[in-house]
Amino acid sequence: MTDAIVVTGTDTGIGKTVFAAGLTAALNGAYWKPVQSGLDDDEDSDTVACLAHLPPDRIVPPAYRLRTPCSPHRAAEIDQVEIDPARLTPPATDRPLVIEGAGGVLVPLTRTFLYADLFARWALPTILVARTALGTINHSLLSLEALRSRGVPVLGIAFVGEANDDTEATICAIGRVPRLGRLPILEALDAERLAQVFAANFKDLRP
Ligand SMILES: Nc1ncnc2c1ncn2[C@@H]1O[C@H](COP(=O)(O)OP(=O)(O)OP(=O)(O)O)[C@@H](O)[C@H]1O
Ligand SMILES: [Mg+2]
Repeated sequence: MTDAIVVTGTDTGIGKTVFAAGLTAALNGAYWKPVQSGLDDDEDSDTVACLAHLPPDRIVPPAYRLRTPCSPHRAAEIDQVEIDPARLTPPATDRPLVIEGAGGVLVPLTRTFLYADLFARWALPTILVARTALGTINHSLLSLEALRSRGVPVLGIAFVGEANDDTEATICAIGRVPRLGRLPILEALDAERLAQVFAANFKDLRP
């Protein structure tokens, strides 16, 4: 397999997919959401295809697509499917693969196996996406502890939101984690604008 990077986050709905789209475009890579739950909403793969201008052959289909918008372990039970971690092995691709988890690091895939356990099995460089808003210091530091206690290699932290210098510096100092950059909230969110802002704000994440 070629290079792969995992994008996880401190919570659901914080901007992992938007960041992953920016990263996939910057790396001229491919994208994989291993488990997608909530099929009535926009699927993350479609959002990334749009925001990174990706042709279909650069989106790896999810291993599991589950109907209910809730934690994968429960969404799978509702669909009467059992998530087999063995099926969640990153596929071989001929370009960098950006892999997006669901929700936060301790989200269950089954009743006994969490996303963080999967990340530990993969041992791939992992980026934690975190908000800059109030509450993020606690969520970020807890997430880093959960990743590190399992031996997951943390590449760094990517912030999303308005600038909050002290918060970002505090997380990076106490969490002993490199700050990769910050994606501001973009009023007009489209592929061109995202690529421009991503390039300006995540200079170390270019190939
Ligand atoms: N930098 C940004 N600028 C503007 N809007 C953003 C930005 N980041 C995220 N959003 C918006 O916030 C919402 C949630 O973002 P996103 O889907 O990326 O979250 P997520 O962490 O991937 O969620 P999930 O856990 O469901 O996968 C979306 O409507 C998205 O368009
Ligand atoms: Mg997402």
